[in-house]
Amino acid sequence: MDKNANVVIMEHPLIKHKISILRKKETGTNEFRKIVEEIAMLMGYEAMSDLPLEDVEVETPIEKCHTPMIDGKKVAVVPILRAGLGMVSGILALVPAAKIGHIGLYRDETTHEPVEYYCKLPEQIDERLVIVVDPMLATGGSAVAAVDFIKKHGGKNIKFMSIIAAPEGVELLAKTHPDVQLYVGNLDRELNENAYICPGLGDAGDRIFGTK
Ligand code: PRP
Ligand code: URA
Repeated sequence: MDKNANVVIMEHPLIKHKISILRKKETGTNEFRKIVEEIAMLMGYEAMSDLPLEDVEVETPIEKCHTPMIDGKKVAVVPILRAGLGMVSGILALVPAAKIGHIGLYRDETTHEPVEYYCKLPEQIDERLVIVVDPMLATGGSAVAAVDFIKKHGGKNIKFMSIIAAPEGVELLAKTHPDVQLYVGNLDRELNENAYICPGLGDAGDRIFGTK
């Protein structure tokens, strides 16, 4: 895969360690959910390192001063349903005032193409930093469809966070939407014949929601 300035692969040992726990097939739903949330928070810290700051006046017990703050309302977190929902609380722990959108997509089992079933974004999406979250970036079809939808509704400043990605998905997203900054917890080897990521962690939605 070519090196791409818009793709940031996480190097932090805490993230690597936590991803390894997710991979284990014996990791149960409870722990899986908790760790997805923790990884989302750690990745969100990195993804929001360029959030704009505004000086505001506050009064300390000593005196008044101007001090930098972010406007959390200018951030929108948009999970791709279902599995992306597991990452939302991790981002909200950092930016509690963020707005939340939802993009409902599932992959058709035979074509592996995304099928849309529900989409709702916060108002004034064009004025917000939009952080799209989905633990898995496999073929990239769902990610591209989600970003297409957000752009169609005016979104301009879009970042995408996935915990595990396949080279195929990273390439498709970077080629189709080169303006979208992509944050990846780990870049895995490849997709198998069922478009699952190898070694991956299996079906993220089923593991978060305990549906299999
Ligand atoms: C998974 C995952 C992504 C998508 C990635 O969702 O959470 O949304 O597959 O695959 P792609 O890059 O090939 O499009 P899935 O369709 O299994 O739905 P779910 O989250 O409801 O289980
Ligand atoms: N979706 C998943 O949940 N896992 C994969 O490996 C690929 C797509």
